[in-house]
Amino acid sequence: MRGHRPRASAVILAAGRGERLGAPVGKALVELAGKPLLRWSAEAFVASGAVDEVVMVTRPGEEAAVGAALEGLGLPWRVVPGGARRQDSSLSGISAAAGEYVLVHDAARPLVGPDLIRAVLEAAIRHGAAVPVIPVRDTLRYAADGFLRAEGPERADLYAVQTPQGFRRGLIRAALEDAVRRGLALTDDAGAVLLAGGRVAVVPGEARNLKVTYPEDLELARALLARRG
Ligand code: CTP
Ligand code: MG
Repeated sequence: MRGHRPRASAVILAAGRGERLGAPVGKALVELAGKPLLRWSAEAFVASGAVDEVVMVTRPGEEAAVGAALEGLGLPWRVVPGGARRQDSSLSGISAAAGEYVLVHDAARPLVGPDLIRAVLEAAIRHGAAVPVIPVRDTLRYAADGFLRAEGPERADLYAVQTPQGFRRGLIRAALEDAVRRGLALTDDAGAVLLAGGRVAVVPGEARNLKVTYPEDLELARALLARRG
């Protein structure tokens, strides 16, 4: 893709505490098959040829360890401080990015593939905003006080949303600034575009692009990597 596309930046969010994983270091620095989680994602962006730089959003105090983990990456990279909530970290990274397009990715998704990264960027260039999704497999229901509630969403229309999420940088920056100003809670970046009344295109996600949230997710990621050989 390099040479035939607008300038684009990877913004990798690695400033979370990783409370649910319960590791002694920040989650993004936890090792998976010999590399910290954030290095896996950063290398996938290098392999994709879709971006010109990597902006790594980091917990204050972890800059040196993160910098060591990014040594010899093969793309220009820099480390910027994250914030208290995911959207604060995201805005910090997007503000520091130079690309006309940004691909915002969770460092907690180390198994993202180069093909998916390219597909998201292409859809973002076409539509302004794009995210990877996978169909939900389970039946989803609301429950309260120990019982299911009768009403529930139609599964056929439900998707789980992954990262990377791609945007024209000006669009996502304005949407996030607005959401932060209004104090709205977000779990991803596309949510800010939707709250601002914008449209977000979908591309097929990857089952292996799981988010490491609990210790068993790390085991699953290890097993997937071992299978690939
Ligand atoms: N993240 C971030 N800044 C925050 C919160 C989250 O950069 N203030 C990042 C995390 O580093 C992670 C991604 O957003 O890569 C998705 O968040 P999540 O999986 O919830 O990670 P943590 O917040 O670190 O984990 P936990 O919620 O268990 O503490
Ligand atoms: Mg979190």
